[in-house]
Amino acid sequence: MDKLIITGKNKLKGSVSIHGAKNSALPILVASLLNQNDLILKNIPEVDDINNMLKLLKNYGAKIIKNKNSLKINNKSIKNISADYDIVRKMRASILILGPLLSRFGYAKISLPGGCAIGTRPIDIHLNGLSKLGINFEIQNGFVIGKVKNDIKGNKINLPFPSVGATENIMMSSVLAKGETLILNAAKEPEIEDLGNCLIAMGAKISGHGKNKIFIQGVQSLKSTNYEIISDRIVAGTFIILAIMLNSTFEVKKFNPKHILSLTNTLKKMGANFSISENSIKIRSSKNLKSCNVITGPYPNFPTDLQAQMMALMSVVNGISNIKETVFENRFMHVPELNRLGANIILNKDNAVIEGNRVFKGAQVMASDLRASVSLILAALCAEGKTTINRVYHLDRGYERIEKILGKLGPKIKRVKT
Ligand code: UD1
Repeated sequence: MDKLIITGKNKLKGSVSIHGAKNSALPILVASLLNQNDLILKNIPEVDDINNMLKLLKNYGAKIIKNKNSLKINNKSIKNISADYDIVRKMRASILILGPLLSRFGYAKISLPGGCAIGTRPIDIHLNGLSKLGINFEIQNGFVIGKVKNDIKGNKINLPFPSVGATENIMMSSVLAKGETLILNAAKEPEIEDLGNCLIAMGAKISGHGKNKIFIQGVQSLKSTNYEIISDRIVAGTFIILAIMLNSTFEVKKFNPKHILSLTNTLKKMGANFSISENSIKIRSSKNLKSCNVITGPYPNFPTDLQAQMMALMSVVNGISNIKETVFENRFMHVPELNRLGANIILNKDNAVIEGNRVFKGAQVMASDLRASVSLILAALCAEGKTTINRVYHLDRGYERIEKILGKLGPKIKRVKT
């Protein structure tokens, strides 16, 4: 498994343009299963989760042509096979194909995703929501098997929690359903808005996406379209936090700063010096950054996907900070590794207390999940001396060529294949 070797204390210089959002691209690629015509997508990130999704869709018979700046996908002649554990295990987002396959074939068989490093991650909200549309589910030998009773019929679905994946699965299943669907307590993430906008471009009738009430009027079929995916707000946030940690003058470009208001508001309270324009943020050197308290939550609250990176920053500012993680259980695996690098973070269930003014020092560490891996990179880039981050394959799931991009911006970072 690859390692990253990082020599810290080199500032960021210049600017970075943010690539497409993996968490938008994944459901949008899945949504193409609903369409018998071509879908041409721009700004698809080149990350492993997307490559795995493309493999999964190819197994179903999707015709995919990649060009330099776009990807064309056609699902006219797909076949209905079962999605096995090997692929679903690698990428939980595979569960999103459940709704579109049921919509296309009236039957779907998908391996249960099982737990993962950041918690048990059940799919009860997906299944209960889809059941309300007239689908029966049973679990057999580790597979979830869905059968449409008569037709998929629109209904009112009140989610017990605004799950991102469940909202997407229900939205996609309702697009070709008979009648109207109303999703209440829907997730409001920008990626949900993006999925809704892409489906509308394909001819779906959807309103309220990006708000907590989504209304979908079923249509008979979808049409060919071109669509450009939004840029990745989590990757943008990661670079912003890093520039602040390295006290650099740096610009993060080509993304929508409105998508990370909870982060920029927190950074302002901490005393960070930056200016926001329509599609970029310029960071300047800041003095005496202060501690703060963060509670993660569904959008527009602070994203759980930036929690680990924020913790690395909190370790080097003045004072004691707190983080409460409310979205995932067990999403603190980066804590012992950040502590190995010199942080002093104390955990109590879903709360972390982070002592500030720590000096990171290079060490050997182990990456555990996608965002945990990147928080270790941030700490290592600020550390005195050399850090080796082992098991970095998680990183490739969501960050495009990170060592190549960072390497061009000032930091010293290299990948070693083992
Ligand atoms: C998506 C994102 C992920 C992000 C997360 C929360 C993608 C591909 N992934 O994941 O990066 O961290 O949103 O913003 O978009 N839950 C249940 N039952 C369910 C579904 C979810 O109990 O049926 C729980 C989960 O275990 C978790 C919480 O709800 O504790 C949030 O999950 P959810 O919003 O569904 O996240 P994902 O869609 O898996």
